[in-house]
Amino acid sequence: MPIMRDGFGRVHDDLRISVTDRCNLRCSYCMPVEPKWFPRERLLTYEETTRIVRIAGRLGVRRVRVTGGEPLVRRDLPDLIGMIAAIRGIDDVSLTTNGILLASAARDLVAAGLRRVNVSLDTLDRDRFRRITGRDHLDRVLEGVRRASDAGLAPIKLNTVLLRGVNDDEVETLVARSRDEGWEIRFIEFMPLENGGTWDPRRVVSGREVRERVARRWPIEPDPDGDPSAPASRWVFGDGRGAIGFIDSVTAPFCADCSRLRLTSDGKLRVCLYDDVETDLKALLRGGASDDDVAAAFDAALARKGRGGAIEIRDRRSALPLARTMHQIGG
Ligand code: 5AD
Ligand code: SF4
Repeated sequence: MPIMRDGFGRVHDDLRISVTDRCNLRCSYCMPVEPKWFPRERLLTYEETTRIVRIAGRLGVRRVRVTGGEPLVRRDLPDLIGMIAAIRGIDDVSLTTNGILLASAARDLVAAGLRRVNVSLDTLDRDRFRRITGRDHLDRVLEGVRRASDAGLAPIKLNTVLLRGVNDDEVETLVARSRDEGWEIRFIEFMPLENGGTWDPRRVVSGREVRERVARRWPIEPDPDGDPSAPASRWVFGDGRGAIGFIDSVTAPFCADCSRLRLTSDGKLRVCLYDDVETDLKALLRGGASDDDVAAAFDAALARKGRGGAIEIRDRRSALPLARTMHQIGG
């Protein structure tokens, strides 16, 4: 089995693919107020994306996560899921979605080979949902989650970003509902990726604080079977009813265990969320490069990967200026 390592010996077997920068929500922590979308011809075609994944698989990528923007706004997304799932060496394909279009897509996604899904949901309150996302669609998301579950996608994981003073009072409500429904909720610390100047360390609700609050009501313990290299630390409830995750991306950067590469919807390979130096794979493909040329570009990009952008932010306690916002990178 091929293995891809960077200069620090970290094994990279995980590729996150943003299939579009467009989104049907406007979460304030993710995108500018008036986003400018890439013109369509700038996006990789499904054939181009699949070719890149095939080459990455040959090099050692085993897992693929499809993200956006909102991936389900891209036409015929199940086709791409099917094309990726069929690639030799790729043994895990997952999807991160805001759930708005999940109800109608769930069955096709399962038929295409998708097994599990992560749904972003920050609140269970309708007005608050509208305030955070700019759209009155909480019910559609909840219906999407229900239909995903009915279609057999499991586990259902929720991604929740807490913002101080906005939704940090909902920790207990979100956890209680997740336990009732059988969702695995993961709290993600607010990262400086929105470039709107709203990020501030004081708006970050630390995973540690959330853990303490959860533990006061429901005893939790670290999952003995947890994967130490996963970004989410997984904890299980003492009463055996489910699990909960914490992605302490700001207070406890996990760069030391990073296994991730990112492909943007316009065909750039990024080796770190916070590193704006990109490799233009689309230009290589459209310029007639061979698979070996593309493979060499992966190797060169990985060779220059730094120790980790998140560590730098923690130490500076301020955001790095970035050329892209989260919706253009894909999380
Ligand atoms: N900080 C933390 N998480 C974010 N996401 C988007 N922007 C940010 C941010 N600034 C999350 C979304 C989604 C995932 C892809 O990334 O909530 O679940
Ligand atoms: Fe859209 Fe997800 Fe960004 Fe919200 S966080 S605006 S749902 S891409």
